[in-house]
Amino acid sequence: MKCKYLEHQVMIRPDGEFRMCCISKEKTNKENINDMSPEEWLASETPTKAREQLANNQFPEACQKCELMELAGKPSMRQRPREYGPGISHLDIRFGNQCNLRCTMCYPGSSSSLYEEHKELRAKGQESPWGWFDYGLYNWYTDEQGETLARNPNLREVYLTGGEPMMVKGLNKFLGKLDPSVEVRFNTNGTLFNPKVFDELKRFDRVNMNFSIDGIGKTNDYIRWGSDWDTVEYNLNKFREVADVSLGPTVQIMNVLDHDTYIEYAQANDLEIFDNLLMTPDSLHIKNAPQAMKDNIKHFDYWMSQPTSIEKQDEFRKWIGVLDKHRGVNIKDYLPEVAGYYGIS
Ligand SMILES: C[S@@+](CC[C@H](N)C(=O)[O-])C[C@H]1O[C@@H](n2cnc3c(N)ncnc32)[C@H](O)[C@@H]1O
Ligand code: SF4
Repeated sequence: MKCKYLEHQVMIRPDGEFRMCCISKEKTNKENINDMSPEEWLASETPTKAREQLANNQFPEACQKCELMELAGKPSMRQRPREYGPGISHLDIRFGNQCNLRCTMCYPGSSSSLYEEHKELRAKGQESPWGWFDYGLYNWYTDEQGETLARNPNLREVYLTGGEPMMVKGLNKFLGKLDPSVEVRFNTNGTLFNPKVFDELKRFDRVNMNFSIDGIGKTNDYIRWGSDWDTVEYNLNKFREVADVSLGPTVQIMNVLDHDTYIEYAQANDLEIFDNLLMTPDSLHIKNAPQAMKDNIKHFDYWMSQPTSIEKQDEFRKWIGVLDKHRGVNIKDYLPEVAGYYGIS
């Protein structure tokens, strides 16, 4: 067995730590972009050992997600039919965790604003579904790092996420160093319009922007706290001038009932949808919605057939109450149907 990600792709977390891929589960890696080059990382012990194990038809422990998919007879990420190589042809980068939003389902380590809020809640003695942890504000991008990453002649694709990639200081300079033949892909929250980035994107043959929109109108405003629907919609239409724009909802209990509205919006605006199922916390996972709500969800049949958890429903009620109080809002004013199913009065 082989995996193209272990041979031709470099993935970097918001804190600069190298990872084998975006779904690998290795424990903390000591290798960091601040200390070594992408080439040195791929030659280091962790990916080398993983390649050797795969060559011996064994899945490394960190690759359990691909292993599980293949055991279930489904295509794994490793098997995706996309061309990689020669050399390091693909970059999957988070230049930091700076973010202007506090999306309710996002991991606080991924958003500086969310992390600040979690610190405030911790100081108030609240419990968090994520547990409490210490994390810094990471912005490891420098023009020198950008130069090193961009000068690779084998580069075919750069995927940028975060944090919020549009907040990266110097993003336009990084893009300016890339050859126009490189495919540039973004995951963005769509709240920010940077004219320098916009102008730079005009040079590229292919730009793909996946807008992380979690509902239409106030559903999005509530889930993606800090965003404003009209601004997001304006930016979406503006970026369509230089990019193939698509929609990427993170499907969870707070937006699953609106999925038909979402599909209608996408169809009316000729936008492709790439569903992204929420990974954690379990209290927001659609499988754990109250049974009466699950009976009214038309999509995601597999998850609807899985057992729900009363404990996780209680956890949601408690956590959303804490967040709403802190933010000075009430879920009933944004998502009355969800509030009703959860008995939130
Ligand atoms: C962490 S964000 C970073 C990029 C950018 N800030 C954005 O929102 O698109 C990358 C993607 O992860 C998604 N995401 C956030 N929380 C998630 C969760 N708990 N499970 C799965 N995906 C999640 C976001 O909606 C977004 O599409
Ligand atoms: S915009 Fe992206 S990084 Fe920021 S909180 Fe939302 S999902 Fe997380």
